[in-house]
Amino acid sequence: MSILILAGSSRKESLNKKLQQRIAERAKALDVACHVYPAEELDAPMYQGDYEAEHGVPASIQKLVTAIRDCSKVVIVTPEYNSSVPPLLKNAIDWSSRVDQQPWKGKTVLLAGASPGRLGAMRAMDHLRAVVMNLQAWVAPMFASCPNANDETIQKMDDDFLKNFLQQGD
Ligand SMILES: Cc1cc2nc3c(=O)[nH]c(=O)nc-3n(C[C@H](O)[C@H](O)[C@H](O)COP(=O)(O)O)c2cc1C
Repeated sequence: MSILILAGSSRKESLNKKLQQRIAERAKALDVACHVYPAEELDAPMYQGDYEAEHGVPASIQKLVTAIRDCSKVVIVTPEYNSSVPPLLKNAIDWSSRVDQQPWKGKTVLLAGASPGRLGAMRAMDHLRAVVMNLQAWVAPMFASCPNANDETIQKMDDDFLKNFLQQGD
């Protein structure tokens, strides 16, 4: 089994990149192979049909699609923008759904998110669940939310909880 861990922010000091690392460390401690997808490589231009007709699906997205196909489980770590999924992540998913035999069908997807706010990106995860379920992924019921997120709260996330989170769908 291998887990692909995607983060939906390429910001240098991104809280969600830190949560991505925290989850990866936990997976490694459990001897689960994981691919931490470099957030900087999640390079998704705004989806535009004319662009697609002329250029096809961007190479950055083909790479993402291969990474999704190659893993048995995907963890998506999402920021929350105005109660929803940030455009980088939404565009990456929209583009990835445009390839032949889109890679999300039947895939086990786990959702995580960090936010400095009290709701810990729960609303973004709720919206993201609907998006990936539309692509016929199986979305695990338990979310890994880090409210009031900072270096310390992310590090202090409960190890047992993260273990149960990661084992969903096994
Ligand atoms: C356009 C925008 C909208 C935001 N809306 C929310 C929101 O609805 N809920 C929330 O908890 N945080 C919101 N935030 C704050 C983000 O959670 C915060 O900037 C967070 O650090 C972004 O994730 P990152 O650190 O991984 O880049 C918003 C930030 C931006 C830039």
